[in-house]
Amino acid sequence: MKRIGILLSGRGSNFLAIAKAIAEGKLRGAEIAVVISNRAAAPGLAAARELGLTAVAIEANGRKRAEHDAEIIATLQQHEVDLVCLAGYMRLISAKFVAEFRNRILNIHPSLLPSFPGLDAQRQALEGGVKVSGCTVHFVDEELDHGCIILQRVVPVLDADDEHTLAERILEQEHTAYTDAIARVLSGEYEFRGQRYVLRG
Ligand code: GRF
Repeated sequence: MKRIGILLSGRGSNFLAIAKAIAEGKLRGAEIAVVISNRAAAPGLAAARELGLTAVAIEANGRKRAEHDAEIIATLQQHEVDLVCLAGYMRLISAKFVAEFRNRILNIHPSLLPSFPGLDAQRQALEGGVKVSGCTVHFVDEELDHGCIILQRVVPVLDADDEHTLAERILEQEHTAYTDAIARVLSGEYEFRGQRYVLRG
């Protein structure tokens, strides 16, 4: 069994999509070992508890990043996590964290990276006037919203869109994209060529 650790800060719809995919047998050989949030009040954490999963709050308030991350790393290790999935985790992670789980941390971002990293990606897309946007699942490195891209999904940006309608269209894609990317990574059938993630063979 490959053990997934989820990190989230908010509503957790991506986490729930992953949990549902596992329940439906779409991610064979994978299980969620622990769900961790930097916010005790995160709805995603309550949802994890309702599903009977191990859900841990590790509050970040007022703590140094290194100290907070050390506790998260220890919790992930204690639950023998193989793969860490950031799912709306609204906190930068330290270089130590990245090094501890090198090439074993994934993130989902609501834009076609490298365009529009950071906060409010959907608003950035509208302000940038692009006609397509989407989501990206990528390995996490030391830079924000950066690292080898595993897959991307594209959606149109419509004239009538505001950031909410665009976010909704993108989110629908996120919910299948993350599971597909996890399946690819867990298959191990890939290699890195420079900045590129490519399927083997
Ligand atoms: C998603 O749009 C994700 O791409 C971004 O944060 C949002 C989290 O949503 N990183 P949810 O908590 O998974 O519903």
